[in-house]
Order: sequence, then C-alpha cells, then structure tokens
Amino acid sequence: MTSGVIIQEERPEDDAAIHRLNGEAFGQDVEADVVDRLRASGKVILSLVAKLNGRVVGHILFSPVTIESADGTVTVPGLAPMAVLSALHKQRIGSSLVVRALSLLKAAVHRGVVVLGHPAYYPRFGFVPASTFGIGSEYDAPDEAFMAIELFPGGLKGCSGLAKFQPEFAGVKHRSSTPYSLGDKNIVIQTELRRHTIHFIRQIITPCRNHVQSA
Ligand SMILES: CC(C)(COP(=O)(O)OP(=O)(O)OC[C@H]1O[C@@H](n2cnc3c(N)ncnc32)[C@H](O)[C@@H]1OP(=O)(O)O)[C@@H](O)C(=O)NCCC(=O)NCCS
Repeated sequence: MTSGVIIQEERPEDDAAIHRLNGEAFGQDVEADVVDRLRASGKVILSLVAKLNGRVVGHILFSPVTIESADGTVTVPGLAPMAVLSALHKQRIGSSLVVRALSLLKAAVHRGVVVLGHPAYYPRFGFVPASTFGIGSEYDAPDEAFMAIELFPGGLKGCSGLAKFQPEFAGVKHRSSTPYSLGDKNIVIQTELRRHTIHFIRQIITPCRNHVQSA
C-alpha cells in the first residue's frame, strides 16, 4: 500500500470528505447519499477511512443485512459501499480497508459478511458465492456476484435464506436492480446483459410456444 496511508474509523469531521470521495470514485452521488442516509439513521456497523496526509482517500462501510430463513432472522454486516480515490487505485488501499474491516468485525464476533460486488475482486479476501451457504439475494445479480465470508468456522451455518439490504439503499435501484451495481459498472453491464439476453430468449421462445400450441 502507498506509504503514509493510515486506516481508522470515520470521525464526524470526515463526513463531507467521505461524501466527496464516494462521488468521485463512483462518478455519481448515489452511493454517497446512501452513506449519508445510513449514518443519519444510525445503521452503520463499521465505517473506516484511509487517510493520506490527513486527506480521506479511501472508505468502506458495513450496514446490517437481514437474512430471513425458515428459523428466523439473522443479521450480518453487509459491505457497501467501498471507494478509493481514482488516482490512487491499484495501490492496495482498497485491500487494506477490506482486510482491516474483516479483522475488526471478526473481533466484534460477527458471524460473517455479505457483499454484492465484482466476483473478480472479493474472492481474494476469502469471499465465496453466498449460495454456498444457502444465502440468496433479493436482487437480480449473477450468483457469483453475491458473496459471503464466514468470520469463524461455521459462522454462517444455518443462516440460509433471503438476504435484504437496508431500505436506505433503495435509491440505488434506479440505476440497476443491484445495490452493488453501486458503481461497479461491470456488474451493471452484466446485469443489463443478462436482462437483455433473457428478454431476447423470451422473444424467441414465446413465438415458438405459441406456434407449438397453435399447431
Ligand atoms: C473497487 C476499489 C475500491 C478497489 O480499490 P483499490 O485500492 O484500487 O483496490 P486494490 O489496490 O486493493 O486492488 C486492486 C485490484 O483489484 C482489482 N479491481 C478493482 N476494482 C475491480 C472491479 N470492479 N472488478 C474486478 N477487479 C477489480 C484491480 O484490477 C486490481 O487487481 P490486481 O490486484 O490483480 O492488479 C476501487 O477500484 C474503486 O473505488 N472503484 C470504484 C467504486 C467501486 O466500484 N466500488 C466497489 C463496489 S463493489
């Protein structure tokens, strides 16, 4: 990681800089607004910043995600959003934020973490498809994009069910049906492609069905 970067919990004086950072990294204010709403409603489990020379250059936030299973509701931290200043990408600032956050959440005895994000990024930290634990997403995202990690062996055992992010993420849906399109443009594109593919296949199949039925 770039030398001189320190990671610490967010402080009230960081709020405006965190908003600006998310706006810059995502190229829109949607995620920054989600952060503000989660903070205002007291739903932040953990929010870390990376600072370089006192400037906020990275941010990661976790809020409660409820998993509704047949046996009841379990709550785990959901990673969203996460951002690093564009000019400092690929310098391990993001990785350092994830690693430190997982360590703190583990120390706080959380059973696991979920994330809807790029499947090429999060597995390096130990995330696997959430479906491995029988955890599903309410969003129309590819299976491999909704991931989970156990913070201790068996932490997510018996947690199978439908995972739901907080209503504060609702505004993100206008862009795509995944909150973790949250700027992850690849996921947006994948989701859109999938939707178009399904639509395309339906267009082909429907006339075929009609043809078969009417034959
Ligand atoms: C995602 C993000 C936080 C990563 O921060 P970072 O400090 O650049 O990450 P690191 O330096 O720790 O890791 C860089 C690695 O992640 C990969 N990576 C970064 N974003 C990625 C993405 N969206 N999909 C796949 N891989 C990604 C890089 O290619 C690089 O891979 P390498 O190690 O094989 O070279 C940063 O790219 C960012 O702010 N992106 C815009 C906002 C966003 O998409 N947030 C994530 C929402 S799920």
